[in-house]
Amino acid sequence: MSKSHITLSKSSNLKNKPESTSLGFGRYFTDHMFKVSYSVKKGWYEPQVTPYQALQLDPGASVLHYGQALFEGMKAFRMQGGRCAMFRPDFNWNRMTEGAARLCMQAPPKDLFIEGIKALVKIDKDWIPSEKGCALYIRPTLIGTEAFLGVRPAEEYLFFVILSPVGSYYSEGTKPIKIWVEEEYIRAAPGGLGATKAAANYATSLRAAQEAKKSSYSQVLWLDVNREYVEEVGTMNVFFVFDNEVVTPSLDGTILGGGTRDSVKTLLQSWNVPVVERKIKLAEIREGHKSGRLKEMFGTGTAAVISPVGELAAKQWQIVINNNQTGPIAARLYEELTGIQNGMRPDVFNWMDWID
Ligand code: COI
Repeated sequence: MSKSHITLSKSSNLKNKPESTSLGFGRYFTDHMFKVSYSVKKGWYEPQVTPYQALQLDPGASVLHYGQALFEGMKAFRMQGGRCAMFRPDFNWNRMTEGAARLCMQAPPKDLFIEGIKALVKIDKDWIPSEKGCALYIRPTLIGTEAFLGVRPAEEYLFFVILSPVGSYYSEGTKPIKIWVEEEYIRAAPGGLGATKAAANYATSLRAAQEAKKSSYSQVLWLDVNREYVEEVGTMNVFFVFDNEVVTPSLDGTILGGGTRDSVKTLLQSWNVPVVERKIKLAEIREGHKSGRLKEMFGTGTAAVISPVGELAAKQWQIVINNNQTGPIAARLYEELTGIQNGMRPDVFNWMDWID
């Protein structure tokens, strides 16, 4: 299916755009959306950019009963000089395709995924903020739409994309955040959905996050099924700096591997900073803090970008990391990554995909 097949229907009622200082995360939606349907009989059909509008779903749709729902998180940026580009869309298409296979869903082919998003971002490109730390967040979503109550993979799907101009994900902005170590609930178990961006993984996370927020922690750090090894934060992957080595949990099927995680590894390697993927015991982090080996902790994600962690706490203990200050590695990564995304630094890894 080529780009020329995408029909465009422009909104005649354009919204007022919010000030970039009041964006926060995910509060505002742009004027248009992209959608395309799939059925086993027809394949993918009717790709269209339409005014942003409610979806029509049969109450029997499989997503509403058996949770066939996957999404992605991507960003488009206004680059130095005014042109617009997306960051690593191939990564997100690959991840959606792998997730769709795990959930027995039909993922859109790569050209449809990328061309659909480009057509949408292009029509709403005035919504892309240009201020540092701001971007147009892209939310591609895939759901099962077939009305059928037997438990089996749906034979009909809807892929849709919505856009939201965003600033910082956390209310702390780029300042260090506080993270709660979750010892009761778990996010994922071996053999489960942890490595996919299934909506179900976020439903699972809400209770723990709500409890952590009551004690003023931004998010929780998930542990493995035996509560021994650290996994991820749910909205971001985690990195620790022990002396001069950067360490991040290896992807073993229970962790969602992020595009920012992957980009951070590449940047560190290009700077000859040792970066290792391996299993990390929670006990090692506490010992590293005690001995002084633990220099920094930070999270990475499309929404979170690079978020330094200033405090880690559990029921029985609490540690303050790097004096609750952003460490030099997190600061350098933030500057480099946002510099590439805004066109202020050379894109040596070809991560930016031009939209116009
Ligand atoms: C992202 O970083 O894109 C995420 O999906 C995290 C969260 C906002 C769900």
